[in-house]
Amino acid sequence: MRILVTGGAGYIGSHTVLLLLEEGHEVHVFDNLSNSSPEALNRVAEITGREARLHVGDLLDQRQLDDVFAELKPDAVIHFAGLKAVGESVDFPLRYYRNNVTGTLNLLEAMDSHDVHTLVFSSSATVYGDAGVVKYREDLKLDAVNPYGRTKMHVEQMLEDVAGSSDKWHIARLRYFNPVGAHESGRIGEDPTGIPNNLMPFISQVAVGRRPVLRIFGNDYATPDGTGVRDYIHVVDLAAAHLAALEYCIDHSGAHAWNIGTGHGSSVMEVLHAFERASGRDIPFELVDRRPGDLAEYYADPTLAREEIGWKAERGLEEMVADNWRWQSTNPDGYPDADPADLPDTDPSEEDGVKGSKPKRATGPNETTKL
Ligand code: NAD
Ligand code: WQD
Repeated sequence: MRILVTGGAGYIGSHTVLLLLEEGHEVHVFDNLSNSSPEALNRVAEITGREARLHVGDLLDQRQLDDVFAELKPDAVIHFAGLKAVGESVDFPLRYYRNNVTGTLNLLEAMDSHDVHTLVFSSSATVYGDAGVVKYREDLKLDAVNPYGRTKMHVEQMLEDVAGSSDKWHIARLRYFNPVGAHESGRIGEDPTGIPNNLMPFISQVAVGRRPVLRIFGNDYATPDGTGVRDYIHVVDLAAAHLAALEYCIDHSGAHAWNIGTGHGSSVMEVLHAFERASGRDIPFELVDRRPGDLAEYYADPTLAREEIGWKAERGLEEMVADNWRWQSTNPDGYPDADPADLPDTDPSEEDGVKGSKPKRATGPNETTKL
């Protein structure tokens, strides 16, 4: 298949592009590089021996989207592009609604007008909010509690409405739990800008000496060791879920939703100790107050994904932390910075006013289209 991957230079996108190339698909990435480096795609090419073509463009620019669809006529779209920091979304909600909701609306309009109706969308467990139970099933009411989560919830509802309007739409909504880890090669991984918001990249940066200490947000939760419990999912297992969902979508219309998690929760202390074993290093930590908005414990019920798309997670916590450590220890500063002369000229988002939309780094992929 010819597949367009929005946000395909990012963390989860690049791992999915890798699997798509390995499966023999023709892959095109549409990304504004606001939170990613084209070096990720260079490395995917190095691992797979095949290349994805990068189209530098912004979802907020309908013309750029139309040009890509007119040129490519893809068979399907996997839609990762979006902003994802909960705290930032509280401070800048309009930026999040614009990028995530308007961006997806633009994408759907471009798809429809070019007769492309198969889509896999990156949703999040955050759409459930505080569900009042710890094991989340897909039939729970969606009730996101922060602007980021609400953008995902609104997009999910928009996708339901679109699919309700005509059988031509074949849509998967994947509700990721806590993606962590890296490709086993250690060549690609998560490379957050600034101070990491999430646990695993923070621990990795402490382990590698970039940060002095991990702050553990609360040890008085009603969990076995008092620290927060989450369902961490290896990014390669998560990437594989996209291929399974895509295959299902080929012969199923509608807007389907599946939880993508292991079904197993791990506490902050368990993750920390697993990381210490994998890295052979002590990880200094301090106990601090709870982080506002955090829940004590939740994890996926992944039964539906297993039954309907034949997907289940294969990798456990030990593999997640070992792969994370391989990536972080061999790339302590993430992807290398580029010579500014290599930066793509196109920065369409500047006129759109999306913060942080200057290309983060660029080292020049083999084949890049500037829109
Ligand atoms: P990421 O930031 O690494 O990747 C997102 C990519 O989208 C980046 O390459 C960025 O440059 C691009 N992008 C953003 N806005 C764009 C726009 N307007 N036009 C074109 N490109 C744009 O994030 P990720 O962790 O790989 O997440 C991918 C998706 O999965 C996101 O939609 C995110 O909300 C969702 N998700 C992530 C997590 C997580 O913890 N990482 C959990 C649940 C859901
Ligand atoms: C995990 C646990 C923290 C950092 C977030 C988003 C969610 C989704 C995934 C996109 C919690 C604790 C963390 C630290 C800590 N993203 N922690 N010290 O909050 O479950 O989910 O990322 O859709 O929407 O909300 O993940 O990794 O931030 O936290 O003690 O420095 O680690 O309190 O218990 P979270 P996380």
